[in-house]
Amino acid sequence: MAAASLFDRSRLTSDSKTKSMEDENETSPVARQEPDQRRDDNAGELRSFGRRRGRKLRPRKSNLFKDKLPAVALDIETPAPDPLERIFVPDGEPPEKTPSETWLEIGFGGAEHLLWQAENNSQVGLIGCEPFEGGVVKALAGIEEKHLSNIRLHADDARDVLRWLPEASLARVFILFPDPWPKKRHVKRRLISPQLLKMLARVMKPGAELRIGTDIGDYLRTILIAFQAEKSFQWSAEGPMDWRIRPPDWPQTRYEQKARREGRLCYYLIFKKRNDLQG
Ligand SMILES: C[S@@+](CC[C@H](N)C(=O)[O-])C[C@H]1O[C@@H](n2cnc3c(N)ncnc32)[C@H](O)[C@@H]1O
Repeated sequence: MAAASLFDRSRLTSDSKTKSMEDENETSPVARQEPDQRRDDNAGELRSFGRRRGRKLRPRKSNLFKDKLPAVALDIETPAPDPLERIFVPDGEPPEKTPSETWLEIGFGGAEHLLWQAENNSQVGLIGCEPFEGGVVKALAGIEEKHLSNIRLHADDARDVLRWLPEASLARVFILFPDPWPKKRHVKRRLISPQLLKMLARVMKPGAELRIGTDIGDYLRTILIAFQAEKSFQWSAEGPMDWRIRPPDWPQTRYEQKARREGRLCYYLIFKKRNDLQG
């Protein structure tokens, strides 16, 4: 679907019925989080996440973080290998074990979706980014319990990874329920912005899929306006059911479950990187 009609669709969501549903969606508990420090991480790039730490980790979890993270942490100080999929093959392992493609999840939260995708797509390698320590520990516990070898983690801002990744190296990207930042003065912290789409356009392969979920009507508008300006992507929806119903290979996250429990509508957006344009 062309960018102009995308914008028309964003207006479509503003009919009075949808509008009232959107307004109900503005009460996300995560949205109420304040950044735990005032400093932003990169000059000119505002911090898009809330807390890095929750309650003090219990010893088992703290050990998991200390002992297991180094083995699966992405090394972004070293240039990315060619092909990128070598990051999933430990030294000494046969090259036949190299995954066929790489997917990225930005802000995996409790890691339910990341672990499900890795378990159900063993031929694919997944990079998961999440600055919240408790979420990283959940991913590490799942990796250990399910004996997964196709996940690498970046326990920090995904934008560091986007800068490090080679051009046209990702076949799929997931951004599920990004922090909504509903207060007016915080809206500029929303992760999805024209700048982020430029970064994604560079690292995604032609035809690659970008999946975004949100339960916040105003964030939906932010997203559609950003995509209207970025010509590298096309929205794949052909009708309302395509953004109202979660596809079967998109498992529910904890955040989504909570949003639904609290009566908020969820939107499932799938964009395709265009074949005929370079990022
Ligand atoms: C509202 S939570 C949703 C978590 C999960 N995707 C879900 O649906 O349950 C948003 C998550 O994105 C993470 N996040 C925000 N900005 C990020 C960034 N720049 N890089 C990586 N993760 C980020 C936050 O730490 C938080 O865990």
